[in-house]
Amino acid sequence: MARPLAGVIDLDGGKSTPLARQLYEQLRSAIADGRLPQGDRLPASRMLARQLDISRNTVSAAIDQLAAEGYLDVARGRRPAIAAGFVRLPVVPVAHGQPAAPARPRLSRWARRIGQSDWPFRYEGIPRPFAPGLADAREFPHDLWARCLRRAARNSHPRRRRGHNRLALQEALARHLVEHRGVRTEPRQIIVTPSAQAAIELIARVTLDAGDIAWLESPGYGGARVALEAAGAEVVGMPLDRSGLVLAKRKERPRLIFVTPSHQYPTGRLMPIDRRLELLRFARIIGAALIEDDYDGEFHYDGQPVASLQGLDGTGRVFYVGTFSKAMVADIRVGYTVVPESLVETFEIAQRHTGQLVSETLQDALAEFMDDGAYAAHIRRMTRLYRARRDRMVQAVAAETRDAFVVEPPAGGMQLVARCRLRQDDRRLCARLAEAGVTARPLSSHYIGPAAERGLFLGFAAWTEKEIDIGARIIGRVCGR
Ligand SMILES: Cc1ncc(COP(=O)(O)O)c(C=O)c1O
Repeated sequence: MARPLAGVIDLDGGKSTPLARQLYEQLRSAIADGRLPQGDRLPASRMLARQLDISRNTVSAAIDQLAAEGYLDVARGRRPAIAAGFVRLPVVPVAHGQPAAPARPRLSRWARRIGQSDWPFRYEGIPRPFAPGLADAREFPHDLWARCLRRAARNSHPRRRRGHNRLALQEALARHLVEHRGVRTEPRQIIVTPSAQAAIELIARVTLDAGDIAWLESPGYGGARVALEAAGAEVVGMPLDRSGLVLAKRKERPRLIFVTPSHQYPTGRLMPIDRRLELLRFARIIGAALIEDDYDGEFHYDGQPVASLQGLDGTGRVFYVGTFSKAMVADIRVGYTVVPESLVETFEIAQRHTGQLVSETLQDALAEFMDDGAYAAHIRRMTRLYRARRDRMVQAVAAETRDAFVVEPPAGGMQLVARCRLRQDDRRLCARLAEAGVTARPLSSHYIGPAAERGLFLGFAAWTEKEIDIGARIIGRVCGR
């Protein structure tokens, strides 16, 4: 056999890929696509090295790797054979040296659906005014946070870890939530997750079976809809009035109800105490669980903050959800849920099964940030700043658009809705604003089913008053006033 592997092996010493790797890859693809049939033998390694003008060690390295992966049978004193019993996959032969055409695995129904939905909203490049849901990262005490991270990383060394401090963040959070949000919890009831979205996912998995009905505010939070549907739920959009979700008489019985009572998402309205009690009573009667998403509940501008729904409930059916991505910065990637005492273990197991875990080092850093008072100080400072920005935004949008919109100042939170007075196409308006440099989300896209109202959903927290003035002027110009 003068050139037994002609047309199969073509090594290039000028490439950065080592020769052993090139030989391994070329032999492997020739075996996989049948150019080297099962049972055939390769030349002896000394011979192959000579034919290919490479070292014998290089040949042996490639052969050993192929033998370890089951492509070749090697036995002392015999030439390597293409493994019999090797199941050849239906590989489309490709011309040697050409990359295979990229193949796309078949997508699940869920993946196909999320690809078509509006959620999550995608923005190109860096965020622009008035992208909702963003904290002002420019105002965050990055140096202080970096010190907490550095110290926690240093102490994460096993010799330095003093005893069992896994509950440090849960303890700091429990103190904060009991005092400031009226939540009833023991530290161990707090399940720390990589985001509020992850917490909602986890609750949906633990409480819902395929076909169960879940109620969601409409307009409401698209992320919750995605999470509930991923768990197989049939999501029903519930109408709102000024007090929040309306408990209309309906035939179907929800197993889970998702609400944002502190600042309804996206309208910003507060659910008053009588509606909260009515909701809890209803859930108790029909045996439903509730998710209370308190995503930006730290920021209150007018009057006293209303205590959480979870704190009003004496029956252990409310899952309270929070996140650090609004109170601190989006990149923190830590959220949490307070779960009923009886479900702590179930959630801990579910969390391990789904991999929704948060690094202990990051948890320790956050615990220190809270224990030192840095977290509370940051919230106090941001509350003053965001309140002024909210006021500026309300006034600037009204002035620049000559009252084409109705803007209700939200009592808290980081975003507001400017409702169109005329029945305009808010999606087209948002597209025109995007071309002019302003980000706004159409209110209509937050509805499940037909939209009752149209408008612009605008974030004010992340933008300075000067940026707010400029953005409002653009809105005024685009709206033709
Ligand atoms: C209403 C609401 N809930 C939850 C979240 C999710 O927060 P996280 O970033 O922690 O996933 C968001 C994010 O925008 C939100 O607007």
